[in-house]
Amino acid sequence: MTHAIEVRGTPRQPLGMPAARFLRNYWQKRPLLVRGGFPHFHQATSADDLAGLACEEAALARIVIHEPKRDRWTLRNGPFMETDFAKLPKQSWTLLVQDVDKWDMDVAALLDAFAFIPSWRVDDVMVSYAVDGGGVGAHVDQYDVFLVQGRGQRRWRISIDPRAPKEFRDDTELKLLREFTPTHDWMLEPGDALYLPPGVPHEGTAIGECMTFSVGMRAPSQAELLLDLAEYLAEPLGEERRLSDPDLRAARHAGEIDAAVLARVRAAMPRIFHEDDATLADWFGRFITRYRSAQVAAPPVHPLAPKQLAARLPRSRVLRNPFSRFAWTRARRGAALFVAGERFDCPLALAKTLCARRECAGGEARKAAGESGMAVLAALVNAGHLHLILTRSP
Ligand code: SIN
Ligand code: CO
Repeated sequence: MTHAIEVRGTPRQPLGMPAARFLRNYWQKRPLLVRGGFPHFHQATSADDLAGLACEEAALARIVIHEPKRDRWTLRNGPFMETDFAKLPKQSWTLLVQDVDKWDMDVAALLDAFAFIPSWRVDDVMVSYAVDGGGVGAHVDQYDVFLVQGRGQRRWRISIDPRAPKEFRDDTELKLLREFTPTHDWMLEPGDALYLPPGVPHEGTAIGECMTFSVGMRAPSQAELLLDLAEYLAEPLGEERRLSDPDLRAARHAGEIDAAVLARVRAAMPRIFHEDDATLADWFGRFITRYRSAQVAAPPVHPLAPKQLAARLPRSRVLRNPFSRFAWTRARRGAALFVAGERFDCPLALAKTLCARRECAGGEARKAAGESGMAVLAALVNAGHLHLILTRSP
């Protein structure tokens, strides 16, 4: 069966099909161009807002300048000053700011369309502003990305040729492809979106001024998983358990590492790939909610006792700190809730409520916590992972 590479989105199905069909046929498999699935996104933020954010100390911002005549690429890292923007050429540059969803609730709302993907799999919304001709050059990404066109037009060219060469140019620190022969060439208008699985060569070029919202995924590498799991398992092991050899025989050839040595080395190793699900979930929940975190939560000035919190909840909204990642798993009793690398054992309803949305009514959180979950709720507020916003005065 062939799968269309271009479809039309609707308000109810921004990707032009039910999530299950998108996951089955496109996710991590093949690109998809969706026309008109995100018609309201141009209002989410403006070029001035983005430039303002790029001047903040904590923001992750880059400017990429291309000199088409000499095909020279320059990368500048933020934070920037207002005067930096005044000095830029008229054409062929772009400003890119990562994690904009953490700073701007309107941009974060774009993530609602991707709620069918586990939240710990989503990295951020990167927003780019480009003048005519601006872009970051032909490249491949390691992660899935949804490139949603906000304002203006952008020409996207991609290659779905599995034999496309992936070598980088050596004349720039940007990882640009040495060769790029597109198989598809599209003009994206505001509201259109292009999904790309990892490893697809692509190049976006602004036609006039444009803004693009990239919803980027994250996926730890095998090396990162292995290193972190090894550290997790090593911590409680202590110093006593060591390589041992009560069956040692006198060496025939000094210094030889023979089969008997290898068998003892193997026996001394913990069996890291055969952990039971509870141990694996405990490690993975801690790992994935701390993985690639750009900022840590700051505790509020005045901590609240669970009783004080219970009194305030009915007249508050509860907001997750956008930089604190939440995930949960079923535990023997209730749930294990993971937040920014820590584990909190709590009622199932509380874990589900806090993970479901970025924000909930205080009364809803209170009900989900019951009596047994109030200490965890208070701990999360007092660590700065949850913020209370008063909606009514007492
Ligand atoms: C962009 O220029 O907005 C997106 C960069 C990319 O291709 O990942
Ligand atoms: Co890319």
